Amino acid sequence: MTYVVTDSCIKCKLLDCVEVCPVDCFYEGENMLVINPEECIDCNMCEPECAVEAILPDIDPESTQWIEFNRKYSTEMNWPVITKNGDPDPENEKYHPYNFPDGKMHLFSEKPGKGD
Ligand code: SF4
Ligand code: F3S
Repeated sequence: MTYVVTDSCIKCKLLDCVEVCPVDCFYEGENMLVINPEECIDCNMCEPECAVEAILPDIDPESTQWIEFNRKYSTEMNWPVITKNGDPDPENEKYHPYNFPDGKMHLFSEKPGKGD
């Protein structure tokens, strides 16, 4: 069991999720976060923290396509761990998922974030 981050996080990156994770399994890309599915202990602390509902449990059918994505970017792409809340993307309201009915993968960056 794991939770995963979806493309709703892209360019919102509100960061309220990271501080509640007891095992520090969030990893930071330039414009979104992912969860390491092998480190997540399925505690459900992070899901209610995300105001744009970017975090899903793997029992949600919509999460299936995101599990490998979260695994890849948390383990193979040198994205750093992030544990501290900070400033969200300044344009996060513009990039609210409601404004992108077809998703936000066209805005995704593979580059690592800064971590902490
Ligand atoms: Fe961390 Fe718990 Fe969220 Fe998994 S479900 S990412 S362990 S806060
Ligand atoms: Fe992203 Fe939501 Fe966390 S927008 S950074 S998953 S609080």
